Amino acid sequence: MHSDTQPDYEHLQRAAKDHLWMHFTRHSSYENADVPIIVRGEGAYIYDAQGKRYLDGLGGLFVSQLGHGRTELAEAAAAQAKELAFHPLWSYAHPNAILLAERIAGYAPGSLNRVFFSSGGGESVETAWKLAKNYFKLTGRPMKHKVISRAIAYHGTTQGALSITGLPPLKQQFEPLVPSTFRVPNTNIYRAPLFGDDPEAFGRWAADQIAVAIENEGPDTVAAVFLEPVQNAGGCFPPPPGYFQRVREICDEYDVLMVSDEVICAFGRLGHMFGAERYGYEPDMITCAKGITSGYAPLGAMIASDELMEPFLEDGAMFAHGYTFGGHPVSTAVAMKNLDIFEEEKILEHVRSNEDAFRATLERLRDLPIVGDVRGDGYFYGIELVKDKATRETFTDEECERILFGFVSKQLFAEGLYCRADDRGDPVIQLSPPLICDQQHFDEMEQVLRVVLDKAWSLL
Ligand SMILES: Cc1ncc(COP(=O)(O)O)c(C=O)c1O
Repeated sequence: MHSDTQPDYEHLQRAAKDHLWMHFTRHSSYENADVPIIVRGEGAYIYDAQGKRYLDGLGGLFVSQLGHGRTELAEAAAAQAKELAFHPLWSYAHPNAILLAERIAGYAPGSLNRVFFSSGGGESVETAWKLAKNYFKLTGRPMKHKVISRAIAYHGTTQGALSITGLPPLKQQFEPLVPSTFRVPNTNIYRAPLFGDDPEAFGRWAADQIAVAIENEGPDTVAAVFLEPVQNAGGCFPPPPGYFQRVREICDEYDVLMVSDEVICAFGRLGHMFGAERYGYEPDMITCAKGITSGYAPLGAMIASDELMEPFLEDGAMFAHGYTFGGHPVSTAVAMKNLDIFEEEKILEHVRSNEDAFRATLERLRDLPIVGDVRGDGYFYGIELVKDKATRETFTDEECERILFGFVSKQLFAEGLYCRADDRGDPVIQLSPPLICDQQHFDEMEQVLRVVLDKAWSLL
């Protein structure tokens, strides 16, 4: 197939099945079914190879903040590729990396002024853990190396990031992983009935479990705690009030670095540049990626406090870490343009002024017997499905297979809504649409979900 001819659908199907190894994909499901092939996007919509339109309810993969088909972003990439396609940040710099680092430091809270670029989220998480270890070695606390993270949290697939991930089924095939990581409870209040009426007490309890884990492991050995502002896996767990403030106190008390993993939550997803700003805390590091370019080029970043960089400014010192494509000239040019558009179009304000409407529209689904919980913040929601609303009884494994994957996931797509059905915790549907969406898109999501979830209930 040449670029000047129309793509041949049969050829694409055959070649996809014969050669393309898709990520996190059961290839057997395509033995007797077509691989969905997405060819184009415009605004909040994507189109498949047969011309069918879908509402991009997941922003690709929590990525497409500004939506699709933005020629300004494509042009920024093309202009940079013509000017300077590549040069690494290994002892050299280029203008976009410099200016983007300055800009991100301006947006980031407090003294988070040092920006280390990567090519994506997992690399940013790796970078944060390596920096934590290295920092403590250089500052006379060489035993501090362990990481605490939360149950069911996803932090990436590289061996370090996977070790920090709290999803045993994703890890089992790759054990032994990097040792020295430990899990604490997440902030799923729907599954913490003892605290059901008192989110503050729940937040206090959940944060205090971090102190317990640090004590159990020995404070001299713990380097960092990794937390998302709103935990994605499990279906959007926002923090209870006071949670992050208590975590900050604990980290200060035990000299443990607080890492805000904002690979999803940064760049407007929660109506602010960073989730930390929304919930009023100042971490020691932020990891980010995805929405930084709205997906028009790959890029990630680890943002560290001035204090963490200090030992690396000593004569001859170096953070011996890097990625060939980290801070790529084209990606950083795209990120600059992306952030220009955020400002010109007041994207953060748009999310903040529409998020209540988004929430209210999804909340309508609570009248369905299968909808147990609707939770999230900003443009980031999870809808938890249950068999019994009163007891909150969840699906069996067989029901997850048959209903969630066998029906809900496929049928939502067939009805024109691209989003995600997930059972990494309890069964949920995840929504993270482009930040340009408004009431018309919220209504469309609600309508498709209503039809499909209604039918799913009858299959239970
Ligand atoms: C919170 C979090 N951290 C890390 C990652 C890994 O990012 P990537 O897939 O870009 O490596 C993800 C991916 O979704 C994520 O959600």
